[in-house]
Amino acid sequence: MKLGMHTLTQKRGLLFGGDYNPEQWPEEVWAQDAALMREAGVNLVTVGVFSWARLEPEPGKHDFGWLDRLLDLMAGHDIAVDLATPTASPPPWLGHRWPETLPVDESGTTLWYGARNQFCPSSSVYWERSLDIVTALADRYAGHPALAMWHVGNEYGQFCHCDESAAAFRRWLRERHGDLETLNEAWGTTFWSQGYGDWEEILPPRTAPYIINPGQRLDWRRFCNDQLLAHFRAQRDVLRARTPEVPVTTNFMGFFKPVDAWAWAAEEDVVANDCYPEPGDPLTPARTALTHDLMRGLAEGRPWLLMEQATTAVNWRPHNLPKPPGQFRLESLQALARGADGLCYFQWRASRFGAERFHAAMVPHAGPETRLHAAVRAHGQELRGLSRVAGTEVPARVAMVFGWDSWWALEDRGRPSDRLNADEQLLNYYVPFFERGVAVDVVPPGADLDGYALVVVPNLFLVSDEQAAWLDAYARGGGVLVVGPFSGIVDPRSHVRTGRFPAPLREVLGVSGEEWLPVGGPVRCRWSGGEDGFAAGTWTELLAAEGAEVVAEFADGDLAGHPAITRHRHGDGLAWYVGTMPEQAALGALAERVLADAGVAGELPDLPPGVEAVRRGEVLFVLNHGTRDVRVELPGRADDLLTGAPAEGAITLAPREVAALITT
Ligand code: GAL
Ligand code: ZN
Repeated sequence: MKLGMHTLTQKRGLLFGGDYNPEQWPEEVWAQDAALMREAGVNLVTVGVFSWARLEPEPGKHDFGWLDRLLDLMAGHDIAVDLATPTASPPPWLGHRWPETLPVDESGTTLWYGARNQFCPSSSVYWERSLDIVTALADRYAGHPALAMWHVGNEYGQFCHCDESAAAFRRWLRERHGDLETLNEAWGTTFWSQGYGDWEEILPPRTAPYIINPGQRLDWRRFCNDQLLAHFRAQRDVLRARTPEVPVTTNFMGFFKPVDAWAWAAEEDVVANDCYPEPGDPLTPARTALTHDLMRGLAEGRPWLLMEQATTAVNWRPHNLPKPPGQFRLESLQALARGADGLCYFQWRASRFGAERFHAAMVPHAGPETRLHAAVRAHGQELRGLSRVAGTEVPARVAMVFGWDSWWALEDRGRPSDRLNADEQLLNYYVPFFERGVAVDVVPPGADLDGYALVVVPNLFLVSDEQAAWLDAYARGGGVLVVGPFSGIVDPRSHVRTGRFPAPLREVLGVSGEEWLPVGGPVRCRWSGGEDGFAAGTWTELLAAEGAEVVAEFADGDLAGHPAITRHRHGDGLAWYVGTMPEQAALGALAERVLADAGVAGELPDLPPGVEAVRRGEVLFVLNHGTRDVRVELPGRADDLLTGAPAEGAITLAPREVAALITT
């Protein structure tokens, strides 16, 4: 069987732990840490993420003694180690001796050492030195009883615009386009006299007087992603060759634009994420749930790992709100409910020095005799009682499509409106499903849609011919498809598809348009059934139905009487199109209609506001994100795995409380 989370959880059950940076502490503290970890139920720590300078104080001179002792200590306490390759933060000697390893931004400014992440993904010296330390680490710790997983680098997403990157970009472009003529055509270089006559003339996007060529920018994003992924892969291959039984991961940052997580997930054994929701944002529960659902999608439905979260405040926002008591537990259990088999934190012990000395930890500066650490301990213990959840899946009949290529292509300068963004559209469409307790899988363009009764495409600006055919076939074959505005607009070169839009989806949707009309304020719309209307904003389109039924139309302004939302019978299925950005309540009403079309219902009827319900395996998780007690009606009898108490017909949840119900 393929390596995955099960490789870790089979023996250990759910994972609990965090980043551990022992190099910041004298060895006496390590012994205390190990004892405290045991008491807290910690069974996994990530070690060595930023240890390169300690492991290799001078080029080629290794010092592994301290890490040997640490790994032995962990093994002695039965704590598994997720051992990091230290490549995210090279030692000063690398940049000092080989300045070409330092990244350069668009303006030509070198980014120096003194923080972290100062490497050029295309630097041959950086590649050489990083693979060297990775090889040494793998050789040394292959077979060590503590070694349970490899953590490659940290939060990949770096760019460099230097000359060496330019050369690598040109090689990549040759691969992709073959010859200059094809490249010139792909980038549309007849525009603004940009024709390239020699490969050497081609550069990464650098600070320029005005808007940079969108084809060049899109290819640059693809190249940067590929380059980082190649670096990940090179490390992974070194590790796999030496420890084929140890899974390899790296940590994502949710919907993080620089890296195409779909491409990365396919190359790793375990999908892991770092998640730092904003405590003050009312959309946090839904936004976080969506990110977790993305992770589950990346893991192809299998369990994933929450690698980093904070017990309370982070230190990198301008004003860092703490999490109220009970909040980090609620957030951990939310991740568990949505498919995580490991709940880990940054970091175990709060640093005394360095840039993150005011960042929360599992053991705060005040020590273990604190309410925070008591809560950490209690949480670690309660997870043991939930081990039957490990390995189970979250069944979903709704899929939402999200792709990085299209995101990159959409969000560039020079479009009709900067206010229509791919990730925000996804969240807007997701929220009503979240509020209704309807499970959603996030899937990439081209995914297998078998088993989904409803597929929502909030925005897919860039659509290939194959992807258009894929959506068409889904609806024709009996699915319910929903497509949001400004989808199907460009091809993979980011060239506009001419004709009435969305040209490649016109037939499936039975509607087409001729003008995009961003608006300054709200526009009234009305449902065709004569029910109350709703407001839309930001974006409208001049559409004409071509076989689709008009479900809502614009009610005022220039577009009065023209379609806003349509529904089209296509083959055995239905295809909805939304040519505007309806207010959230209207997206809720829309969700109800399309769910009815698809015959899908939420986990619990009439969920009170602020309450999340999601089923994982045989457990129905109900989470109260609100600040008041709520009563939640249940279909019948249930037993709560967390309290051990039975419930008949309904439960009452205090703020930030969670029920893990076995319903009977
Ligand atoms: C993550 C990072 C950690 C730490 C943490 C602080 O992005 O991987 O090393 O910096 O943020 O929130
Ligand atoms: Zn560079």
